[in-house]
Amino acid sequence: MAKLWAGRTSGATDRIADDFNSSISFDSRMYVQDITGSMAHASMLGAQGILPQGEAEAIIAGLEGILEDLNSGALSVDLACEDIHMFVEQELTCRLGDLGKKLHTARSRNDQVALDLRMYLRGEIDEISALIRETLEAILFQAEGHKAAIMPGYTHMQRAQPILFSHHVLAYAMMLLRDLDRLRDCRRRMNLSPIGCCALAGTTYPTDRRFEAERLGFDGVTANSLDGVSDRDFCVELLGCLSLVMMHLSRFSEELILWTSWEFGFVELSDSFTTGSSIMPQKKNPDMAELVRGKTGRVYGDLTALLTTLKGLPLAYNKDMQEDKEAVFDAVDTVKMCLRVFAPMLRTMTVKEEAMKRAAQGGFINATDLADYLVKKGLPFRSAYQLSGQIVAACIARGTVLEKLPLDVYQSFSPLFGEDLYSQIGLSACVEKRISEGGTSLASVEAQIALVRRALAG
Ligand code: ARG
Repeated sequence: MAKLWAGRTSGATDRIADDFNSSISFDSRMYVQDITGSMAHASMLGAQGILPQGEAEAIIAGLEGILEDLNSGALSVDLACEDIHMFVEQELTCRLGDLGKKLHTARSRNDQVALDLRMYLRGEIDEISALIRETLEAILFQAEGHKAAIMPGYTHMQRAQPILFSHHVLAYAMMLLRDLDRLRDCRRRMNLSPIGCCALAGTTYPTDRRFEAERLGFDGVTANSLDGVSDRDFCVELLGCLSLVMMHLSRFSEELILWTSWEFGFVELSDSFTTGSSIMPQKKNPDMAELVRGKTGRVYGDLTALLTTLKGLPLAYNKDMQEDKEAVFDAVDTVKMCLRVFAPMLRTMTVKEEAMKRAAQGGFINATDLADYLVKKGLPFRSAYQLSGQIVAACIARGTVLEKLPLDVYQSFSPLFGEDLYSQIGLSACVEKRISEGGTSLASVEAQIALVRRALAG
């Protein structure tokens, strides 16, 4: 079929050039947004008297028919068209004859594609946000189910201080809450309509951009037509938000992978979210968590690719910008897939409280509390720190731990030690004493759970 833009040229392009130029294989997923946008455009043309009302109505009915047929499968997208915008116009003209050719009055594919993409991506943000909320629910489920379980907290991957398992997983809840907030913010800036910017400079027709924006659920219109058609900040911002979501999922995955190893044995993933080895019968592999960690790289790649594409583009539209879609589509698909698997994987995992506690009992994880004990008896912190270090060394030499070292040995280090020491360096006491806001005490964990619940309800 002849190109819709044939005129200045014959439109007879080389096959290889056609394939290279075409975006329909990936932009046809925006057909709903494209057709809905066109319906709003036609109704604006009618309302403003740019087209007779009857014609606008006939165009809208034609578009409705195309939408229904695409939805039902009665019509399929013609991949020979350059993009989804061309396909819809071609199909409309097939159905309505010359009337179909009037739809493109007072607009351009440049503002049309920017419109479609904003509408499509705001829908994706809503879906991703819902999936993040499900993940938050799974975190709450595990935190509440194992609220008082003690595990070692680490710095430098060395046992540092005892913490509650619930406190640990709630750290990820805080990250995901920030992700939700960032996505909300990104959606707010995205939700301005570029339609009516036309090719680059606006139009001579008496259009009403706000009418279209309102119909399509936008909060307003973009203020500069050149910016309206060439801005892809909303794609970059979204990719930035999604990169952070993936970074959080990846760090969590990394911990789950460690925790499921024999060396840790803190959790066991359910059979439905693990795989076996083709050769080693004993294996239960955390493939899902590894894939989430692995796919983080491709989302970062999408962000880097788009930033690089946009860098140095002059105003206004340039065909380079067609590259935006594969990057954002790949990222939203990847993030949705990862969240869809991550939330149930988390919810169905078994937490092995005893193993975590055992790990917390070794490694002199209460040495800070020993130092704090001496500080409370009047020793300056730095001296208490040094003395505690010497006591740890003495324990290692004797093959014992702080809880079991006899009082007379303690007293040979300092007369400040008394019988009350042992109640102060027990694991539970170490956790319960960390009452500072946001600390690991049970009361603090409960406050955090309430905070996440409030955020989810709001
Ligand atoms: N397929 C194009 C894209 O995705 C649509 C806009 C084309 N505009 C143009 N003037 N060639 O960017």
